[in-house]
Amino acid sequence: MTHIADIAEARLLRNDTPELMGVHGEVVVFGHALADMASLDDDNLARIIERAAAAGPEHYNLSMVEPEGAAGYGRWVQGLLTEPGEKVNGHDVLALIRRGRLWLQVEHLHELAPDLYRLIRAAYDEFKRRVAHFTYFNLYTNLLISGPSAQVTPHIDVAEVLLFHIRGRKKFRLWDPAKFPVPDEWRESIILREQLEDIPLRPEWLEQAMEAVLEPGQGVSFPFMWPHAVENLGELNVSLQSEYHHPASIRRYAALYANGLLRRRLGMNPQSTGPGTLGEALRAVAGLAAKKLKVHSPKPRKVAMQFVIDPAEEDGVRRIPEERQMHLEK
Ligand SMILES: [Fe+2]
Repeated sequence: MTHIADIAEARLLRNDTPELMGVHGEVVVFGHALADMASLDDDNLARIIERAAAAGPEHYNLSMVEPEGAAGYGRWVQGLLTEPGEKVNGHDVLALIRRGRLWLQVEHLHELAPDLYRLIRAAYDEFKRRVAHFTYFNLYTNLLISGPSAQVTPHIDVAEVLLFHIRGRKKFRLWDPAKFPVPDEWRESIILREQLEDIPLRPEWLEQAMEAVLEPGQGVSFPFMWPHAVENLGELNVSLQSEYHHPASIRRYAALYANGLLRRRLGMNPQSTGPGTLGEALRAVAGLAAKKLKVHSPKPRKVAMQFVIDPAEEDGVRRIPEERQMHLEK
């Protein structure tokens, strides 16, 4: 890992500034230097995985796709790197990720891999210096390590996303809501945490998406709340993923939150509040106030941990019997 002093000096975003100007408003694929500077080879990845396992399942998400599922996509289940009292070898985990359908997201990088966290921050600060309208707060970072055939089903994130791709190739599919309208009710129930972010896109839309293939050293940014899906293209994939808010995304988030409450509490059918409208701004104020006052207190999302890594098993994972499954807030 490069010393932090070098990071501050480095140019981390390879595009000329005009090419970066579309950030927030359109899909932007950009070149970056994080793949060279982070040196995320297998040894480094294995060390980070072992740190995450020791820190416990609140510090990572480990998922696997079970083959059954609608519209050609599988069903996600979540699991553990280790059960309490066990140790895990990071290289074993990497070998298993390479073999199959596992997807590992190491969270809390500021604690588990502070150098990576500083590198991502430096890239954000460079965006801020070079793109006048770019701002960020509530930065959340994670390291994604996923298998050759891992897929992320169509979903909507409730924050802005910047993904810095590091190893392997990845295909993003994105659906512009102007062409593929998604009902506000879906966004509201994701924001109110009534459902996970997955969304049932119309089957005929699946092949009509905008596509972007990311090579190592490329990154992607796309507009807030655009539905998207991701597919790995045949090798181990490593990315530094990050989420953040900026004032417009907070307004949109809060307006959807307020509309969701109006619909649920008062049986109203609120008008859609397009991005940047006065209605959106007014509802955003109401939404933020309601959130602060805890008018709506959603049940925490408890997710069952259904398997644990086990190199002794044929497919590398041991199913945990239902009565022993931990349920964690995810
Ligand atoms: Fe996403």
